[in-house]
Amino acid sequence: MSVLSCADVSKVFQDNGYEALNRVSVEIGEGEAVGIVGESGSGKSTVGNIIGGLEKPTGGTVFYHGTDISGLKGEALRSFRRSVQYIFQDPKGAMNPYFTLRRVLMEPLQINFPGIGKREMERRAAEIAMMVNLPPSILDAHPWEVSGGEAQRIAIARAILLEPEVIIADECVSALDLSIQAEVMNLLRRIRKDTSASFLFISHDLSLVRYFCDRVYVMRYGRIVECLDCSRMEEEAQSEYTKILLEDAYGEYQGNSHR
Ligand SMILES: Nc1ncnc2c1ncn2[C@@H]1O[C@H](COP(=O)(O)OP(=O)(O)OP(=O)(O)O)[C@@H](O)[C@H]1O
Ligand SMILES: [Mg+2]
Repeated sequence: MSVLSCADVSKVFQDNGYEALNRVSVEIGEGEAVGIVGESGSGKSTVGNIIGGLEKPTGGTVFYHGTDISGLKGEALRSFRRSVQYIFQDPKGAMNPYFTLRRVLMEPLQINFPGIGKREMERRAAEIAMMVNLPPSILDAHPWEVSGGEAQRIAIARAILLEPEVIIADECVSALDLSIQAEVMNLLRRIRKDTSASFLFISHDLSLVRYFCDRVYVMRYGRIVECLDCSRMEEEAQSEYTKILLEDAYGEYQGNSHR
């Protein structure tokens, strides 16, 4: 059974009546890294926001271990929120500028484990910083005092701190220089290996998705065009749109007959 999935999800934004999603179904299996790729405005972030419970769909259902999340309350809802963590494009935007990075990392511990002592939180913060290849001394800095790559490592540290089942990474390296992008992608790969977390990796960059994911959903105009195994994209691609994406990412499309 999937850890997290959505079935026939639609979204019409009330303010402008825009239909951003039309019957979208996505499944994320245990330990699986699933990608969503598509052009700007195709609805990728809207799927990510709905499947993790940040936004409500106007139609369809989101399931967490087979349970409709719209009915979750109390401890079940808290457990769901703990189990699904996000990494966004702009890490500093999601951090309190008045907090040191240590406090940024301690806050989720404080909220989720009210009995935890200060020493233990500090120890956990230093330990998790090492896991994302940051020296513990950086934790004295504020978000605006570190580079974009360092801030994204802190955001990743915060996402893995509570040992989530699913990490939703939405364009999480898009704002970084290429060399830093590669470092962060390697870090995410290592986290995949070292933890049992599943990933929903959202990106407009097909080559990043292919590097990181097992499966990818191709989206266009609020719909899923097709779903492909990342190791067999060229062979499996049926839609012209996917073929164009492959061509853009890897040069001329070779098609099935060349393999
Ligand atoms: N809160 C909102 N109100 C109205 N329309 C919205 C809202 N959020 C998103 N949209 C619209 O829904 C569509 C899908 O947006 P979404 O952010 O999911 O796309 P995306 O694929 O993530 O794009 P990008 O690659 O630029 O991040 C877009 O046309 C967008 O303008
Ligand atoms: Mg987006």
